[in-house]
Amino acid sequence: MDITQIIEHQHAEQRRMFAMLEEWPRDDSEGLAAVWTRLEVLLETHAEAEERYFYPELLRLGTGAADAESTEEEVKDAVKDHNDLRKAIRKVARCRTGSAAWWTAVTDANVYNSNHMAEEERQDLADFRQRASLELRHEIGLQFLRYEALKAATGVPPKDKDPDAYVRSRTKAAASPTAKKAARKAAAAATTAPVKRAASKKASKEAASAES
Ligand SMILES: [Fe+2]
Ligand SMILES: [Fe+2]
Repeated sequence: MDITQIIEHQHAEQRRMFAMLEEWPRDDSEGLAAVWTRLEVLLETHAEAEERYFYPELLRLGTGAADAESTEEEVKDAVKDHNDLRKAIRKVARCRTGSAAWWTAVTDANVYNSNHMAEEERQDLADFRQRASLELRHEIGLQFLRYEALKAATGVPPKDKDPDAYVRSRTKAAASPTAKKAARKAAAAATTAPVKRAASKKASKEAASAES
């Protein structure tokens, strides 16, 4: 098990389920509702599990990857993206299944999620692969899957988090014994140094203007 592979695998499943909805018979509102319920549970438990098990460890070990300004900015961005996705999910719940408003809300959720997944894969997962040992990736993967399994039948209520408060509290939080043990080995086990690079033109307005 490797948390970075688990997350990527579930992203593929999320993309597949949005594609299923797009091809679903429009008059089968019972089927549409059932597919959406499965997707909603996956989206919510996935985001919550990332915030519980993946992002705290990324904050400990990350250095910022690709076009990210820093690990803290990466994580704040991710939490904000999760909040946007939760907002779209709540909107779907308020609409009649299969109505124009329902499809608009589902499309919004797809757009927020697609953009977020691309960034998460390019920055957060890449950062973690460069810094975390395979042992830590394995331990977090198991915790992540356990949480999702416990919540798979009921889902979790979408709960927004303040990005700044989240990063502050997780940065100070004590690591679990398992994470501590694995984290001690992580720096030594990391096989690659952070990628040295000039600021990406797309990294931020500040970086872009500094280059021009
Ligand atoms: Fe994700
Ligand atoms: Fe995420």
